[in-house]
Amino acid sequence: MQEQVSVSRAWEKKFPEHIVMVTTISAAGKPNIITLGWAMPTSGSPPMCAVSIGLPRYSHDLLEEVPEFVLAFPAEDMEEAMLFCGTKSGRDVDKFAEAGLTAIPGVAVRPPLIGEAVTNMECRVSSTHRTGDHTIFVGEIVAAHHSTRSARRLYNLGDRGFGPL
Ligand SMILES: Cc1cc2nc3c(=O)[nH]c(=O)nc-3n(C[C@H](O)[C@H](O)[C@H](O)COP(=O)(O)O)c2cc1C
Repeated sequence: MQEQVSVSRAWEKKFPEHIVMVTTISAAGKPNIITLGWAMPTSGSPPMCAVSIGLPRYSHDLLEEVPEFVLAFPAEDMEEAMLFCGTKSGRDVDKFAEAGLTAIPGVAVRPPLIGEAVTNMECRVSSTHRTGDHTIFVGEIVAAHHSTRSARRLYNLGDRGFGPL
């Protein structure tokens, strides 16, 4: 049996959802970080991924300025920093400094890696797709990095908060 519900009630059942943090950079070289749930791999060869970013976000402006990003998987001990980067705008704050995260230069793109993350993937935007009030930025993954420390990935568990699976 199925009962018709609102779209928002239907999406309440999506959890657990993965979380990513995406770094971008201004043309002048100031980096930023945004927290995202809407991200996915889209191709194995070449390796590609997509992130969906709301039109008003500062990160959206930055990706139009410098079409490169780093897709990072936050570690289980990064909940506070993840929430900070997901609630403050880089228009107002320096998120690397205020969230206490370490910016590490990548090898292929200008936005930095997040030193504390489990994984960082360097991406070059290859296409964009307007989807309602968000833009999907598709990126080709041109370099990837794993943390040398042992840390599990942080997930959005819905009502149960955030944590590893
Ligand atoms: C768990 C979580 C998931 C989020 N997922 C998305 C998302 O998929 N797309 C998006 O545009 N914003 C998402 N946000 C909101 C942005 O992270 C937030 O608006 C951020 O402050 C924007 O920063 P910026 O203005 O520096 O780009 C999410 C926030 C949280 C906490």
